[in-house]
Amino acid sequence: MKYIAIKDVESYLGQEVSIRAWVRNIRHSGKLLFIILRDGSGELQSVAFRPDLGDEKFEVARRLSMESSVIVTGIPKAHPKMEGEYELSITDVLPWQIAEDYPISKKEHGPDFLLSNRHLWLRVPKQWALMRLRHTIYFAICEYLNDNDYIRFDSPILTPSSCEETTTLFELDYFDEGKAYLSQSGQLYLEAGIMSLGRVYDFGPVFRAEKSKTRKHLTEFWMMDAEAAWVEHEESMDIQEGLIRYVIRTCLEKCGKELDILERDTEALKAADAPFPRMTHREAIDLLKSKGVDITYQSDFGAADEVMLTEGSPVPVFIERWPKDIKAFYMKRDPENPDLVLGSDLIAPEGFGEIIGGSQREDDHDLLLQRMQDEKMPIEDYQWFLDLRKYGSVPHSGFGIGLERLIAWISGVHHIRETIPFPRMIYRIYP
Ligand code: 4AD
Ligand code: MG
Repeated sequence: MKYIAIKDVESYLGQEVSIRAWVRNIRHSGKLLFIILRDGSGELQSVAFRPDLGDEKFEVARRLSMESSVIVTGIPKAHPKMEGEYELSITDVLPWQIAEDYPISKKEHGPDFLLSNRHLWLRVPKQWALMRLRHTIYFAICEYLNDNDYIRFDSPILTPSSCEETTTLFELDYFDEGKAYLSQSGQLYLEAGIMSLGRVYDFGPVFRAEKSKTRKHLTEFWMMDAEAAWVEHEESMDIQEGLIRYVIRTCLEKCGKELDILERDTEALKAADAPFPRMTHREAIDLLKSKGVDITYQSDFGAADEVMLTEGSPVPVFIERWPKDIKAFYMKRDPENPDLVLGSDLIAPEGFGEIIGGSQREDDHDLLLQRMQDEKMPIEDYQWFLDLRKYGSVPHSGFGIGLERLIAWISGVHHIRETIPFPRMIYRIYP
């Protein structure tokens, strides 16, 4: 018997085929039995008619429960009522394993229950669509970078020092070497990579012991860090914009069905494929002040501020040139104002918040050392990083995309925890 994937059913109309699947739903009315099959590639309704199938096989099929695994043989036909859909006329059923009562049903479940059953929750259409969208976004990012001459350069996860705030480090004992930390971002290592390869990127899990319980924070998430030699601040933002717009176009092109299941407003996504405005941090503060927000020129933005900064904008907005005291040590000082750094955050519209953090890097050895001393950083741990400014330093810039934040925006899901197979948050590590 020929096994086919549900997505390919259209090519087998009128021919007997077999499908290896799970039962998404089953119902019967009199002599008819309807089994909705799903096999990972899609869903298909199959139908058994008792007089055609015979009593014995009909009874076997009827005993299937929701989420049972099964091999169903039948003849695909055009769906009698829905255009562009297909239906399988069952000729045989081979139950593989009859599932026990499935804990996830159509009724509303609370988030805690669903998270505790994440291993099963992943099978529902919305989660299926999210994981497929994640796959498409991941590869679209890699494709764009590959087409723009970035070389994949995998950074380590076990590191001797921090890249971002030391308050969010996960610490562990590392044999006789003392403490080691889980990487918060591969950026510093990529800065070494570009001095060999020109343009590099990494893509993998990073870790932050974030005390935040917001809908935008995970303790383990995936980051794509990109870094390029000879690229300065403005050009770096051009690259970020090109990349995000490419990802949006790819999702619109390849994930129509997924976005439909997610009930995503695709007009809003189409509108996001247009130039991204750039606003300085100071202009952003002025804008917030004009809207009545009580905020200073030294402030970072909260979630409500980010919503206001993108209000009415169909596209993400860059906020650039930040006060140096609220940004990381490696950012290059703004030549026009030593109190500022050439950093940028890209804020997604519709309340999804910061999706990219990036900057031009300080390439002057002495200025970088000074900044690190001012911040009382342990210089010996970063000697290798300072070395990069001693042996052929060049202007360079890079940025990091939070994959789950980007998926949340493109899919429109409220909480980032649904955008990763097994979310890690301060209050949850099971399953
Ligand atoms: O802005 P961040 O902290 O920047 C960096 O780590 C730089 N070293 C990246 C670079 O320049 N190569 O983090 C980058 C992005 C944020 O914009 C956000 O999208 C995401 O990572 N992010 C988180 N996503 C989920 N949960 C968290 N706790 C996150 N923290 C940051
Ligand atoms: Mg940031």
